[in-house]
Amino acid sequence: MSIKERDKRYIWHPLKQHQLQPESLAIVKAKNCILTDEDGNEYIDAIASWYTCMYGHCNDYIIEKAYRQMQQLDQIMFSDFTHEPAVKLSEELIKILPQGQDKIFFNDNGSTAVEAGIKMALQYYFNNNEKRSTFIAFDNGFHGDTFGAMSVSGLSVYNGPFEDFLIDVKRIPTPDGTNENQILNLLKNYISEYNIAGFIYEPLVQGAAGMKIHDSNGLNAILKVCKAHQILTIADEVMTGFGKTGRYFASDYIETKPDIMCLSKALTAGLVPMAITSCSQKIYNRFLSNEMAKGFFHCHTYSANPVACAAAIAGIELLNSKDIQDNISRVSEAHRNFNSRIKNHPKVKTSRHIGVIFALDLNTKMERYGDLRDKLLKFFMDRGVFLRPLGQTIYIQTPYTISDKQLDKIYQVIEDSLEIV
Ligand SMILES: Cc1ncc(COP(=O)(O)O)c(C=O)c1O
Repeated sequence: MSIKERDKRYIWHPLKQHQLQPESLAIVKAKNCILTDEDGNEYIDAIASWYTCMYGHCNDYIIEKAYRQMQQLDQIMFSDFTHEPAVKLSEELIKILPQGQDKIFFNDNGSTAVEAGIKMALQYYFNNNEKRSTFIAFDNGFHGDTFGAMSVSGLSVYNGPFEDFLIDVKRIPTPDGTNENQILNLLKNYISEYNIAGFIYEPLVQGAAGMKIHDSNGLNAILKVCKAHQILTIADEVMTGFGKTGRYFASDYIETKPDIMCLSKALTAGLVPMAITSCSQKIYNRFLSNEMAKGFFHCHTYSANPVACAAAIAGIELLNSKDIQDNISRVSEAHRNFNSRIKNHPKVKTSRHIGVIFALDLNTKMERYGDLRDKLLKFFMDRGVFLRPLGQTIYIQTPYTISDKQLDKIYQVIEDSLEIV
């Protein structure tokens, strides 16, 4: 029996309506940008498996470092112990994180990185006997699937059934270069009416919303108002971190730096799960006390797993290399050229790009999980390209190591797909 057939017996997949979509494609191998299925078909991974494997799948350098670490120290709980890979990773991260990130807290996925960020902000005020319990977040943001992360995400099929159980969040639109005053007025109204603990945002690019890029000056103005009112700012860089936007972090484009940052995905180069919530010294200090209960009682069993830390250190080494930096510039340039070619196509409503992220919105209505989306997905897969449309949007976010030929193929299938839309 094929893997695909055996899968159906016991497995419940995420983001799937099993009654309508009974099958999942079985991938047996991945190398650099190529995925191979159980029938031997090959696909270019044009979204880097949800933007994780940015240095290519099964990267030899990362595997070697992880393998050596596995032989030395595989796992150790992190509440009473520490280890070289966690310390080294923290040192390397602090060198590249935006100014003001002074402490590294380990988690194990993007949602829990966000969850910890939200809890840090709430307890920051709790420890000071101040009641602040409301958050500000952007419309249509996505921050993950745990309760805090769902609460701050825009309402969708992901969190709709849980709406009654979510924490209090007030929403503001993303800045588009024309609506700054309207947003700032709304924000100030919220500030006067509610006790706001934090503002969480995906800086510059909202990933799951469809790689929507917003205005950095507008975001900076929002952050300044938050800072002026002691609202803790939480940059969710789970998607944007580690070079995707052409800089280490999207926050590098914005003058006002966050108090807390959430990192995952490319952090470990797609090899193993891990996440980090970093924060400023000011936040860390608020948890220092003679009272045990003022500490941060949030922990995951695999926090700071040594193998994951080793993969992350290797990933940062690659990110710092001339080779990867040149690749990022090359892919950014190719996206720029493709954007010029495609932006006036009658089926394209809008298109955009930043760093290695490219996205276009179709002129035609497309449901997030509807027929046209399925038709496009099949069109791409039949032509050997794994692209996963999001709402109205077709987006590209390949590993940095993609070849020019592979990029051209991705561009071509996207252009061809517009004929069936
Ligand atoms: C910006 C952002 N935050 C948080 C998450 C949640 O990460 P995870 O799926 O690892 O829980 C995602 C996932 O796509 C994301 O894009």
